[in-house]
Amino acid sequence: MNFQARLEALTHQLRPWSSLWSQSILQGWPGSGAAYPEDWLAYARSLDEAGERQLDQGVLVGVPPPSLEALLGALQELTALPWHEGHQALTVAQTQGLSAKKTHELERVLALLAPRTRFIQQAVDIGGGMGHLARLCARTFGWTFHSIDRDAALQDKGRRWLARQGGDTVSFIQASVEDGLQPGIDPLFSGQDRASIGLHTCGPLALTQLRKSQGAGFVLNIGCCYDKLEAPRDYPVSRFGAAHPLPFTPHALALTTRGRHHKTEEEFARMKRVYAWRFAFDLLTRQRFPERGFVRAGDAPRSLYDGPFAVYARDRLERLGLEPGMTDAELDVFEVSVRAETRDLLLCHLLRDRFARALEVVLLLDRALLLEELGFQVELLQLFDPRLSPRNLALIASRGA
Ligand SMILES: C[S@@+](CC[C@H](N)C(=O)[O-])C[C@H]1O[C@@H](n2cnc3c(N)ncnc32)[C@H](O)[C@@H]1O
Repeated sequence: MNFQARLEALTHQLRPWSSLWSQSILQGWPGSGAAYPEDWLAYARSLDEAGERQLDQGVLVGVPPPSLEALLGALQELTALPWHEGHQALTVAQTQGLSAKKTHELERVLALLAPRTRFIQQAVDIGGGMGHLARLCARTFGWTFHSIDRDAALQDKGRRWLARQGGDTVSFIQASVEDGLQPGIDPLFSGQDRASIGLHTCGPLALTQLRKSQGAGFVLNIGCCYDKLEAPRDYPVSRFGAAHPLPFTPHALALTTRGRHHKTEEEFARMKRVYAWRFAFDLLTRQRFPERGFVRAGDAPRSLYDGPFAVYARDRLERLGLEPGMTDAELDVFEVSVRAETRDLLLCHLLRDRFARALEVVLLLDRALLLEELGFQVELLQLFDPRLSPRNLALIASRGA
């Protein structure tokens, strides 16, 4: 893939809409809503529940505004990435105690590694947790494997697991992997016969892995938790990315981490209810306690979204030490009175979510370009089923055989 052309085209599409994706709708309301073109909002308001669900999946029913249709079409094309097909089935014994998600991930990672790592003898896993990947790679490929993690308790669990399953060539190293020189662990990342692996490396840990692995023969990185990144420290990281930057904010980084699997009817209805209560609560606190500015409602227990708004709102207000001087009936009447506005808030969210995958792909194209600039041959593939594991993009870099 031509990563430069893809990044240039994607940033070209995204830049004009940065006022939509770079700010929080709720925190900036009602000003944030003004960034949404009137014809986009009029179209979204015309949708019934089925149409809203389609919009949530990126499908525009009826007669959408041309600018929205053109943008979504372009983003869909530019975020399409090749799939890694195939998995290496694990035995029942190998998957004992593993979640369906972890099993799915490991089966696909093993299948991806097999044809690409014939020259590899040793590997290191950064943020290796309990060492499941290490144990399976050691068994499957016969590699010597170092699994590094800063969490000693997880590694102890992994050691016990390994003892039960039988030795192999896995060593656990308890260390916090940081940028800069670390003579104790840095040599593990260097050598033509060494693979450097990071499976769901949180935030900037992915970048630390890439930088430490400049001398490795093979690199596999799957990132996650992009909301833990800081721009400009962690984006852009490539020279080409720096020449085509986007104004990433903490809110934009948070948007990239939003789960985007297709929701069932029930999941979509639940999301709408959670949003409706949150948004009405926000409008209530603005009206009653304007001096408090934006008030964070926080995550409420699931059951509170099933009952009346008044019960939810009272619970949240009590937690914040606020007394609105309203009866439950008045709180419920308030919620009904702001429904047109809370629906607009929902529609803006559905529209803004359309940028999430594109922004995630920008971050990964920038990383792919960094690896190319370091002299690697690079692939960017979809590896996991996003319904099971939504952070499913794999960066694969190799120096060639
Ligand atoms: C999301 S988990 C992924 C664990 C494992 N790779 C997996 O896929 O199940 C991230 C892991 O990275 C570890 N971690 C995070 N930052 C680290 C750092 N700077 N150095 C070493 N380990 C780190 C955490 O303790 C955690 O076990």
